[in-house]
Amino acid sequence: MKTLIIYVSIHHGNTERIAKAIASVLEADLANPTNVSADDVCNYDLIGFGSGIYFGKHHSSLFSLVDRLPSQKGKRAFIFSTSGLSKIMLIHDFDKPLRNMLIAKGFIIVGEFNCRGWDTYPLWVRPFGGINKGKPGERELEEAKRFAISLKKGL
Ligand SMILES: Cc1cc2nc3c(=O)[nH]c(=O)nc-3n(C[C@H](O)[C@H](O)[C@H](O)COP(=O)(O)O)c2cc1C
Repeated sequence: MKTLIIYVSIHHGNTERIAKAIASVLEADLANPTNVSADDVCNYDLIGFGSGIYFGKHHSSLFSLVDRLPSQKGKRAFIFSTSGLSKIMLIHDFDKPLRNMLIAKGFIIVGEFNCRGWDTYPLWVRPFGGINKGKPGERELEEAKRFAISLKKGL
């Protein structure tokens, strides 16, 4: 099972830590949307797409990449993210735009992972060092690895 994880992590490297934890379990290759071609993506059996959440959704370069891909005809994919706020299905489901775009492209979504990440973007949180300081920490990295194990079992 050849796995590729494509991620963007521009704020504090939070999502990169999660991407590497998942990759260590799945023995996946890692890439960024800007250094991977559509042909590369087609050469893998399972693709992970992840980033921090910026203004309510994943990083725009992930959407641009998915837009460039040919139809994927049932290829398996998973989504992951780190965010300042908690993901709440139906109310604050910031994975939805990317999920919908991947499904429209023909991917089957086999799993989703989200955890909180250190966030110093809002001005009001800066005086006290931001929110979720230290996250993702050991606990979240273990959860990410468990998520990867569950993916492996389901394949
Ligand atoms: C420009 C910017 C916008 C953000 N917008 C959101 C948001 O809409 N919702 C949210 O929960 N977190 C938001 N965050 C917090 C990040 O999602 C969070 O810190 C994440 O862990 C960053 O991941 P990274 O270090 O991999 O870039 C924002 C952060 C930045 C820098």
